[in-house]
Amino acid sequence: MKAVIPAAGLGTRFLPITKAQPKEMLPVYDRPAIQYVVEEVVQSGIDDILIITGKNKRAIEDHFDRSLELEISLRNREKEEYLRKIERISSVDIHFIRQKEQKGLGDAIYCARKYVGGEPFAVLLGDTITVAERPCTRQMMDIFFEVEAPVIAVEEVPMEKVGSYGVISYREDEKGLFLIEDLVEKPEPGEAPSNYAIIGRYLLTPDVFDFIEKTRPGKGGEIQLTDALRLLNRSRQIYGFKFEGRRYDIGNMMDWLKSTVELALADDAVREELSAFLRDVV
Ligand code: G1P
Repeated sequence: MKAVIPAAGLGTRFLPITKAQPKEMLPVYDRPAIQYVVEEVVQSGIDDILIITGKNKRAIEDHFDRSLELEISLRNREKEEYLRKIERISSVDIHFIRQKEQKGLGDAIYCARKYVGGEPFAVLLGDTITVAERPCTRQMMDIFFEVEAPVIAVEEVPMEKVGSYGVISYREDEKGLFLIEDLVEKPEPGEAPSNYAIIGRYLLTPDVFDFIEKTRPGKGGEIQLTDALRLLNRSRQIYGFKFEGRRYDIGNMMDWLKSTVELALADDAVREELSAFLRDVV
């Protein structure tokens, strides 16, 4: 299976940090956000990845490329621990393609059409980091192999936050899977069909591309993936599942800050000192 990671957004919410660097390279504790996403893919057993980039995204390509100079320098200075860290990053096979115009997430995914071919594929958005014993993408794959239909990871969010997400309406089957009835991109307050939000992990079938083609601009004047899935769901059942694990939303400044603190606190190497520091400051 292949994985597609769209990374073409402008990162407006993070200006001025993102003026000259992609938002996907924002550090979240000890690594750039997109590295967590690539690690989730690899840990799920997928080794063929396409990252969809746009303008000003060179740093992402450099990050996953080998840096021989750096490797030699670290080896000479016997910095083995750092050497292992950077060698691990560049050991994955990653392809890049550019979205030529900012026309929305649906359009970005459409750029992967040729690369994907006729096979099912995973989509992971960089706004979300997941931490789980069985990686989120692996959980989706396991369900996909059972139901042989598109699968979307969802999570319950507070009602006041539904306007930031794609939201589903559903019926639950006897196994606890959600049979999706409809999908709405960023509903207005009071119009959300539930408080189950799409978290940015999808297992899609290649017929989705035909529906992206038919999708007119929606929220924000962009071609929305949620709208294409809404059309797809009318021709075949899409499944939703409650992802088991922790999700970190890094799509806005406050949640990004919280994620950095939480992920740092999860690391034994810094937990004690950081906790004491935070208590002190607060
Ligand atoms: C995108 C999707 C939305 C989804 C969200 C998850 O929105 O369009 O349906 O719920 O990612 O993070 P964005 O956050 O890119 O505006």
